Amino acid sequence: MSWLLRFFSSSIGKKLIMALTGLFLCSFLVVHMIGNTQLFYADQGLAFNKYAVIMTSNPLIEIISIGLYFFILLHTVQGLLLAYKNRQARPVGYAKFNNSSRWQSRNMAILGTIILVFLVVHMSRFWYQYRFDYVPYKKYVENIQTGQMVSTQAMAESYAVKRRIVEDLDETTGHKVTIVRDLYKEVEVAFQNLPLVLLYVLSMVALAYHLVHGFQSGFQTLGLNHPKYNPLVRWVGVGLFAILIPAVFAAMPIYFYVKSLG
Ligand code: HEM
Repeated sequence: MSWLLRFFSSSIGKKLIMALTGLFLCSFLVVHMIGNTQLFYADQGLAFNKYAVIMTSNPLIEIISIGLYFFILLHTVQGLLLAYKNRQARPVGYAKFNNSSRWQSRNMAILGTIILVFLVVHMSRFWYQYRFDYVPYKKYVENIQTGQMVSTQAMAESYAVKRRIVEDLDETTGHKVTIVRDLYKEVEVAFQNLPLVLLYVLSMVALAYHLVHGFQSGFQTLGLNHPKYNPLVRWVGVGLFAILIPAVFAAMPIYFYVKSLG
């Protein structure tokens, strides 16, 4: 066991931790982005609210979430320590930079810190609220034959549903009633606030720069470096992680803000 500890405290071990935790966080981003695109559905938040229930009540997902929080902390602390050590080893800084030390690669710690600030704001806003604070309920009535929404109704604060979701099918009318906590509404209200929207959009720019270097660098550290596959890794790193994912995330606050303008 002590050899394992010794390995992970060596500088190659630390780089390996950065690569493994970083690539795990990348896979989280893919899932989180796909799940959150349900915010764009024209169903008044029903699909998104049901998804939020699954993400917070499935025991397997809960265990993965605990791993996720741990990896975020490990990646952050290790990244800051590595940046500090690099600075101590090279106090003068680069006189000029070449291709292998592009701006984003030299500023991973600054970009990561911006993302950390974003995460603190983000989780205190949605994650904390959904788990520990008050979120109102909404009642949806759907016609399951036509797939049409018959009605929706915000439930009073005093509504005594202790469960996160109640689903009921009335076979005579063919109406399905769903009562669920309305996290969609919280997202909609939050993104009517322009400073918050700007913070999200700017953080997604930092995320893009962090990932354009981070994703490819993770593969390098793991030794997954082959001339045949490098163009694919570069394409996924830039196209998916540095462009598509930050752009889709940034589109969410922009969408709600523009919608709120009428
Ligand atoms: C900009 C669009 C985004 C929206 C609308 C959004 C929305 C949400 C919501 C509603 C939650 C609470 C639901 C839950 O706790 O499962 C949540 C949780 C979370 N979000 Fe986001 N998110 C966005 C972007 C991001 C980004 C870019 C990151 C990472 C850089 C991120 C990281 C997280 C984390 C770590 C959690 C906690 C997940 C868990 O507990 O398993 N989110 N997000």
